[in-house]
Amino acid sequence: MSIDRKTALEAVHHMQDRQSVRNFADKPIPQEDLDEILRAATAAATAGNLQPVTIIVEKDPERSRRLGELCTNQPFIGKAPVNLLFLLDWHKLSVYAAARKAPFNCHDSWMHFVTGLEDVMCAAQSAETAAHMLGIGSCFIGTAMHSGAEIAEMYDLPPRTYPMVLLTLGYPKDLPAKRRKLEQDYMVFEGKYPRLDPDDLCRAYDTKYEGIQLPFPTRPEPRQAMVEKIRRGLLTTYSPEETEQIIRDALERGYITEVQRRFAYHYHAVDNYNKGGHILEMMQEQDMFPTRILRDGKIDL
Ligand SMILES: Cc1cc2nc3c(=O)[nH]c(=O)nc-3n(C[C@H](O)[C@H](O)[C@H](O)COP(=O)(O)O)c2cc1C
Repeated sequence: MSIDRKTALEAVHHMQDRQSVRNFADKPIPQEDLDEILRAATAAATAGNLQPVTIIVEKDPERSRRLGELCTNQPFIGKAPVNLLFLLDWHKLSVYAAARKAPFNCHDSWMHFVTGLEDVMCAAQSAETAAHMLGIGSCFIGTAMHSGAEIAEMYDLPPRTYPMVLLTLGYPKDLPAKRRKLEQDYMVFEGKYPRLDPDDLCRAYDTKYEGIQLPFPTRPEPRQAMVEKIRRGLLTTYSPEETEQIIRDALERGYITEVQRRFAYHYHAVDNYNKGGHILEMMQEQDMFPTRILRDGKIDL
């Protein structure tokens, strides 16, 4: 099926104009439009045509508020008229395989975990795009996986399913300034990966993150807490002496830069290692343990 070029280009330009929406108008999403979005999601590409994906539709304000709490306290989730929870779902296929006498081990295979997660994101991205086309804003929430155990209980999830991502949906109340992106020249290469000049690369990222900085609090206690957290992050990469110098420079400046915030504060290396372990434990509770990697081609039967 194809549409005329003018309409297609308009649609593509509209896609290019997307941005995450976190502030929603108090206006319901018509069921007809939601159905279109869900049809787009379930038609997404999927490795091996397996479709290990389930979408849970949440419209209840109280339960959405609870989802917001569970997704590392992001209250705007509770204000979205619809939330779509995307599960990596090996349950349905394992039931089917058992009934039809096929072997099944997708739920503990690293390879299937990765392709399954790719499938989930293809479906979620299709939903995001369809929503945007219909004038409905959305925001992906990756932290659903941080509360897999609680979410599994809340939705009575069967074994071999796990929440991977949430998509909040709602009509935009107001749109914030667009977040700057890395110039396309640094994201798209043709033929081969060029050797990038580090100064040019830094300039490109500096431009992307220009003006975004996190000031140190003035009150001594939170200020000290921020320094401690940054120190812990910096020490994963720098010597103690280098770490102290970086902290001194930042204190003198009065703020940490966006890349420092990203890796030493917000997406903190130590915390992220710990969270990863916790998520794997919760997956194991769901009878999913996607760590089996064989190198000698033999499987212990
Ligand atoms: C996998 C994934 C997880 C995300 N998780 C969150 C989240 O938990 N909270 C949030 O506010 N935004 C989240 N986002 C949205 C990003 O912050 C956003 O896409 C990014 O800042 C770029 O902004 P833009 O979407 O407006 O272009 C997530 C996006 C992706 C793709």
